[in-house]
Amino acid sequence: MLKHEQPLLYVQNLQKKFGSGCESCKDSETRMLTKNYCAHCGTVYACRNVSFEVYPGEILGIVGESGSGKSTLMQCLYFDTEVTSGEVYFNDMELRNQNLFTLSSQKKRYIRNHKYGMVYQNPVNGLKMNFSSIGNIAEKLIAAGNRNVGEMETVGKRLLGTVHIPLFRMKEEPKNFSGGMQQRVQIAKALSNNPPVLFLDEVTTGLDLSVQAAVIDLIKKIQRELHISMIVVSHDLAVIRMLADRTLVMLNGEVIEEGLTDQILEDPIHAYTQQLVYSLL
Ligand SMILES: Nc1ncnc2c1ncn2[C@@H]1O[C@H](COP(=O)(O)OP(=O)(O)OP(=O)(O)O)[C@@H](O)[C@H]1O
Ligand SMILES: [Mg+2]
Ligand SMILES: [Zn+2]
Repeated sequence: MLKHEQPLLYVQNLQKKFGSGCESCKDSETRMLTKNYCAHCGTVYACRNVSFEVYPGEILGIVGESGSGKSTLMQCLYFDTEVTSGEVYFNDMELRNQNLFTLSSQKKRYIRNHKYGMVYQNPVNGLKMNFSSIGNIAEKLIAAGNRNVGEMETVGKRLLGTVHIPLFRMKEEPKNFSGGMQQRVQIAKALSNNPPVLFLDEVTTGLDLSVQAAVIDLIKKIQRELHISMIVVSHDLAVIRMLADRTLVMLNGEVIEEGLTDQILEDPIHAYTQQLVYSLL
């Protein structure tokens, strides 16, 4: 990633609140929140003025404690949920200069199917648990416009191979798989349309350490070979350290620190980031 390169994805002032707000929390300058929460009306300010860029081929890490807004941010970017306000731009010939959040749901679906891959924190959100594994991949291939069954099977097998799912299990339903295997099927599915951008939400959380290490190696290998831009979300700075070139630190819905991962680890500026870094040692 070189600074003079154009960002591939550019997010500006993304806001997401749950609830309608009240007199005492309407104004972002004067509102008094408990973490991200208005005690008067119960509105949650899950993402507040989030801005960042993702460069071609880089892995951007997003780290922050539980409830800091990481999954909400990913869901907004993937159009699973409407943003309250904000802009996102995707810098290719087709989409350049349009705020994607303002596009029709049909256009958004097109972007999901052709430009994005998503690995959800909870595999239930990313997979049909009682479809076969290869069927899950085929579903995404069909959404991306493929019709040739033989071709789809070839692609599906190759992808399952990439994520080390034994082919004799390809007809099996992911509900029979271990957590680590389910995450790997999600990764295979997310890669099936050759997306330039891949979102990974807590992809290693809940896996035991050896499986975690294998998934991390897999992600690195994919990034090296396919040069996909990735946004990797984790509450675990140890995971982010292993994967991310640059890192954003989120707290209570806000980005409180941003920089090269090495720099953040060496010289954290915000007190919360310092606490995160020292807890690694
Ligand atoms: N549908 C919803 N309705 C109301 N509040 C919500 C909703 N979804 C998320 N929130 C709130 O938004 C905030 C951010 O949640 P989010 O799931 O994005 O956090 P996170 O950083 O992904 O946490 P974790 O590390 O636990 O996954 C939390 O306070 C959460 O309670
Ligand atoms: Mg989350
Ligand atoms: Zn309020």
